[in-house]
Amino acid sequence: MKVLFVCLGNICRSPMAEGIFNKLVKERGLGQKYTSDSAGTAGYHIGELPDFRTRKICEVNATPLNHRGRKLLKEDINTFDLILAMDLMNYKDILEQLLVSDSEKSKVRIMRSYEPDGYGKEVPDPYYGDLEDFKLVYSMLENACTCMLDELELNSIE
Ligand code: 4NP
Repeated sequence: MKVLFVCLGNICRSPMAEGIFNKLVKERGLGQKYTSDSAGTAGYHIGELPDFRTRKICEVNATPLNHRGRKLLKEDINTFDLILAMDLMNYKDILEQLLVSDSEKSKVRIMRSYEPDGYGKEVPDPYYGDLEDFKLVYSMLENACTCMLDELELNSIE
């Protein structure tokens, strides 16, 4: 299963989500089953390393990152099985930019929607915040990725 995490700039939230997801997958011995990537709806940071604050928080939490910023591509809707938006604006932009048809819509979901009480909840943009905001985003993503992987695994054995 190929999973794509999407935010605006692809330097703060989505590379962090990708790193956390990869770590969880590895811990559960599911490396053969899942691959992941991340992308931004905007192209401001193409080719760049993740933001230094994302790198710092991931380092502190022993979460490896291996990503350079890239923009969302039209073909991503075909390449990936699941596309996860960090917030509602990302979700709307993904549907528009990828010209997602009604039959493809179930491939695109909001990251926190896997949490038991996550309906309508977003992963807030920490770019103009401080390290505390990045810390909060990390714990939010750790919880959201755990809930997501739990649900994917549950569905895969049904
Ligand atoms: P991200 O955060 O979407 O979580 O990567 C942002 C990064 C850069 C910008 C905005 C948000 N920017 O405006 O450059």
